[in-house]
Parts: sequence; C-alpha cells; structure tokens
Amino acid sequence: AEVVDNSSKDEFLELLQTLEQRMNWDGQRLVKYKGFWLLQLLFRPMLSAHNNFRAKATDVILSTMPKSGTTWLKALTFSIANRNVFPIDQTPLLTSTPHMLVPFLEFNVYWGQENPDLENVPCPRIFATHMPFEILPDSIHESDCRIIYICRNPLDQFVSHRHFLLENKIEKEADPLDIDEAFDMFCQGIHPCGPFWDHMLGYWNAHLENPRKVLFLKYEDLKEDITSQVKKIAEFMGFPFSQEEEEQGLIDQISGLCSFESLSKLAVNKTGNINGIVKNTSFFRKGQVGDWTNHLTPAMVERIKKLMDSKFRNSGLMF
Ligand code: A3P
Repeated sequence: AEVVDNSSKDEFLELLQTLEQRMNWDGQRLVKYKGFWLLQLLFRPMLSAHNNFRAKATDVILSTMPKSGTTWLKALTFSIANRNVFPIDQTPLLTSTPHMLVPFLEFNVYWGQENPDLENVPCPRIFATHMPFEILPDSIHESDCRIIYICRNPLDQFVSHRHFLLENKIEKEADPLDIDEAFDMFCQGIHPCGPFWDHMLGYWNAHLENPRKVLFLKYEDLKEDITSQVKKIAEFMGFPFSQEEEEQGLIDQISGLCSFESLSKLAVNKTGNINGIVKNTSFFRKGQVGDWTNHLTPAMVERIKKLMDSKFRNSGLMF
C-alpha cells in the first residue's frame, strides 16, 4: 500500500508559497527555485528525487534541457549498455519508445511517488532528468555515478520546444503567447529549466572540473559525426567497444538503429502517447540542425547571438 507522507507534503506547499511564480509563454506555471525557472508541475517530483534518490556507482544519469536530444541519448545509452543482453535485431527499442525504456526521474520515477523502491532496477540503471546541475540529488554528486549532459544550439532548442508545447495538449492556465513574446521571455531566461545559459554552464563547468564525472555532448556534434560520439559515450559509460565489436560494425548498427530516420519510422514511435497527453510522434519532428532559420527573424537572431556571446564569453562553450 502507498504510504502518504503528509508532513513532507505540507513542507512542499509551504515552500511553494514562498517562491516567485510566472506563466510560461504556453500557459504553464513556472516557479523560481535556486535561480532556475522550473515547471510547477514537476517541482514536487523534482524535490522528492532530490531528497530521496540514492545513486549507485554504476548509475548513468542523462541530463538535458528539454528538446536538446534527450530521446536520442536515451536510445543510444540504452543500446550501448544492453548490447550484450539483446541482439540489435531484437532490441526493445523496436517495440518500446526510448522514454519507456529510460525513465525520467521527475516525469516517471518520482511522479506521484515520494520514495519509490529502485533497488531492484537492473544495473546499470539509466535515468534521465531535466534538473539543473545545482538541483541534482546530493547522492548523484557524492557517488561515483556518471552524468551525461547533451545540449543544443539554443536557437534550435527554442524552436523545437515551441513546436512541442503547441502540439501537445498539456494542461495550461492561459492561452499561448505569440512567438515574439515567447522569444523575449526565452532571452530573459524565463522558460522551463531556464535560464538556458545557467543550465548549460552548470554542467559545462562541472565537466571542466571533473571530466570523468560529467560528459558534455552537443546535439550538433552527434549529427556531424555519430561514430566518434558513440565511441566516446560508450567509453565514458565504462562499456568501451572492443576491437572485435568495432570490426563487426556494432557502432554503425547502434548509430543506425538510433538515428532519427530509423526511430521515427517505427510503429511504436509513430502512434500512441504518454498518459493521453504527449504524442509519441512529437519527439520526432525534423531532427535537423539549423531549423531556426525558418522560424526566427534576423532581429531575433541578432539579439540571442549577442546574449550568448555575453553569457558564454570566457567559458569556452561555443555554438
Ligand atoms: P526537432 O523539434 O528540431 O525536430 P528531446 O528528445 O530532448 O525531447 O528533443 C527532441 C528533438 O530531438 C526534436 O528536434 C526531435 O526531432 C529530435 N530527435 C529526436 N530523436 C532524434 C534522433 N534519434 N536523432 C536526431 N534527432 C532526434
């Protein structure tokens, strides 16, 4: 039977009342916590995860801002970790979406559950999250588990997220704003998981400090040369490809299986939805670099390029 812990629920509501709140452009409520705008919907599960998640040294945590390549990274890491469990032609990815195979801490694992039992999840456990580095559960910082972060050019991330939120009928408190106003909020850092520069720099700086703990990937690099990136991910996860595996073409098989073209054609990804709300197809829109050129005006582009320049200057992070 589920144990309802009322004391912590009250604490949560009390905390919520003290936080600044804003409406995202799409009509979902945001709360500001430790400098980040988080979807209020996810705030309780994020705190539950923060308080109760116990990382194991073998865990792999996938961290992303929404629409930065999460689905792709889930498929790749699942395939790399399980390549000796399932032959490629029998992989569960053929019949389950990447989101069914690699759960999010906040949308799945801690959704409506304060402290689920995760002891029996087979190792290596792979979990995903959109949490900023600073808000991750302490045990992720303290244990030897590994973090893989993937980010994406903010212009494409913005365009992709706008399509995603407009396409899915997520419960909203207000009508969506037009793209100019949405973009203005994005540039102010007021968007889910924003400011984007702080989300990225949190993981970027952690990667610079301890590259064995945090792998920092870019969507564009995976698009450019998937083979070298898959090798890098496998090595980082502690499952490097043997020479024999390389000669057998396993890296190409995994890269091919997890490509946009391949995954988006599978029936499981072409139909159905998550909880009647998020369409599975909405995770596979175009899968291209540079779609922003079709959606943003030159003035918008100039504004965000200046902003990125000022935020990322001296950090070494570039797009
Ligand atoms: P677009 O909207 O630009 O097409 P996330 O997985 O973090 O939600 O991000 C979704 C974005 O990644 C979408 O971008 C989607 O099309 C793209 N995507 C999903 N699967 C992909 C894959 N296997 N390879 C490349 N891009 C992928």
